[in-house]
Amino acid sequence: MKYYLTTPLYYVNDKPHIGHAYTQVATDVMARWKRLEGNDVFFLTGTDEHGQKIERTAQAAGKEPKAFCDSIVPKFKDAWKKLDISYDHFIRTTDPEHEERVQSVMQTLFEKGDIYKGTYEGWYCTPCETYWTDLQLEDGKCASCGRDVEKLSEETYYFRLSAYQDRLLKLYEENPGFIAPDTRRNEVISRVSEGLRDLSVSRLKSSLSWGVPFPVDDRHTTYVWFDALLNYITGVQWPGGERFKYWPADLHIIGKDILWFHAVIWPAMLMALGVELPKRVFAHGFWTVEGEKMSKSKGNFLDPLEAIDNYGLDAFRYFLLREVPFGQDGDYSESALAQRNNTELADAVGNLVMRVVTLLNKYTEGKIPPRGKQEPGDGNFIQSLSIYEQASAKMEKQEFDKALDIIVGLARNTNKYIQDTKPWVLAKEDTDRLNAVLYNSAEAVRILAIYLDAFIPDSAAGIRKQLNVKPQLLKGAKYGFFEEGHEVGQAKVLFKKLEAKPRHAFERVDLRAARIVSVEDHPEADKLYVLRVDLGSGQRTIVAGIKPYYEPAELEGKTVAIVANLEPAKLRGILSEGMLLAAEKDGVVGLLSVGAEPGTQVIAEGIRPRAAKKISFKNFGKLNISVKGGKAFVDSLALSAGDKPVTCERVKDGKVE
Ligand code: MSP
Repeated sequence: MKYYLTTPLYYVNDKPHIGHAYTQVATDVMARWKRLEGNDVFFLTGTDEHGQKIERTAQAAGKEPKAFCDSIVPKFKDAWKKLDISYDHFIRTTDPEHEERVQSVMQTLFEKGDIYKGTYEGWYCTPCETYWTDLQLEDGKCASCGRDVEKLSEETYYFRLSAYQDRLLKLYEENPGFIAPDTRRNEVISRVSEGLRDLSVSRLKSSLSWGVPFPVDDRHTTYVWFDALLNYITGVQWPGGERFKYWPADLHIIGKDILWFHAVIWPAMLMALGVELPKRVFAHGFWTVEGEKMSKSKGNFLDPLEAIDNYGLDAFRYFLLREVPFGQDGDYSESALAQRNNTELADAVGNLVMRVVTLLNKYTEGKIPPRGKQEPGDGNFIQSLSIYEQASAKMEKQEFDKALDIIVGLARNTNKYIQDTKPWVLAKEDTDRLNAVLYNSAEAVRILAIYLDAFIPDSAAGIRKQLNVKPQLLKGAKYGFFEEGHEVGQAKVLFKKLEAKPRHAFERVDLRAARIVSVEDHPEADKLYVLRVDLGSGQRTIVAGIKPYYEPAELEGKTVAIVANLEPAKLRGILSEGMLLAAEKDGVVGLLSVGAEPGTQVIAEGIRPRAAKKISFKNFGKLNISVKGGKAFVDSLALSAGDKPVTCERVKDGKVE
């Protein structure tokens, strides 16, 4: 049977991050599983290259849009190679075949009356490439990402989305599996029930030129989402190409943020075109990193390639799918990844393989023994190897975490079987019985490798090498494959135990940019000022001993670095809620200044502070903060806020105490 599955097309304005890697790995695992089932699989991925966002990013990089995209696409391809993503075709929305087909779709829909001319008045969010009405905005910002939107009032062509409400609702009702998971399905149904507005599908060339020219009216450019969604059919050579045999898509895997486009707009487009509908759209959840939303300014942008370098490809792939039920949000943390790797991959799977191959080498000259003296208890064990139906039921629903639990359960069972039957004792007493236990265990390991092949192909290949067997399909996951005398290879460690990297003390410190609002003398102390500082979210008081070094006028309006989570302390009767940072050298004292908005967090290269608690003055004092060449460092790691270095004007080299 054919099986066609897709990922979203990634915007090329950035390099791939964990969110992208997640969609890719999940789709890859599904594709590999379907291949292991013996299906003729087609796996499509690619890049989304048109639209305002890309146009602006290219401009900022000083490049023509197409040249800019050409420079980014290899980064995605390299990342997918490193992640071992087994896609069959990589589509770019700038591929001429795609662009031509998009144009013919627009022409056809216009001729059919599904696209018509009108005026658009509303708001546009460029990062999301999404239109919003006044009512949809949240506090005047984009309802999806919370960023600023731009007012638009211009001539546009509309797609008659409103005409498809009933047919869409019928689709959801008749095909309960069309949108997954269920919670998301319910959300879509309730929104669609409220009614649908027609969708603006063109922009005047004067405001957007980077896109597929709108065929009906050459003053217009095609809306990027309309163009991008069509990739799912143009990528299989619709209409008429040989690859179109793969349509309809069996599964579109996407993130929850773009479900509306895939579960509402996309099927309506296909209905308008008279093309068969896809079978299922699965919206996965979002990852946070160490408890926080990823963002560049926080410095917690998780580079999947770095994670692979640090922990290994399979530990990373395994973690992504095992840690969080697919469809729910999850948190990426090094310690959780290390934990999964250590208990499930290293202890359960790795140990088992090592044990079995070592036992075979030790007791049966590296050869598979005859089936030996089987005992009634073995029957149960052998029975437990047939997990195909259970695992496959989970995979059909994209419940990867549960499927993995079942598969790793097989490794645990086998470890227990070996523990219970004690081959090292049998070796002394009962060769016939030893043979049975070793034969059965070797079969278990072979079968385990078949299942794992979809998830961690590299390690599965490692197991096959140790057993000296070729790749097999899932139908080979049945007891009784090995012939007596088959020579196995040498035992080798498959998974190293991981230690989450030790944390840097800087992680416990919350340094922030703060603007000095007012400066007063401390009524009780000669050397102290009482400052009010603005932290963006509010103001607070800080008592600082800098009176001998600064005039009030030099301080007011200055944005400086403060320790925002220092335990508050009374200084001569006034409560100080933080501390200014200053460097000192030979009696000269200079404050550390920051070029970012008040409230911006100060980060150190490679370290993202996660300060949940207050820090004591004593513990803060243990940090080694210094100024070198006018720039601030903690150890040898440069401090910055909002991508700008933390600096000191007065002291070029000195210690911060
Ligand atoms: N170009 C559109 C998709 C067009 S499909 C015809 C787009 N691109 S994207 O690059 O912004 O996002 C691609 C995918 O990454 C989406 O499925 C999105 O949900 C996913 N993720 C982006 N950030 C994510 C996390 N933090 N966590 C998990 N996935 C997230 O949207």
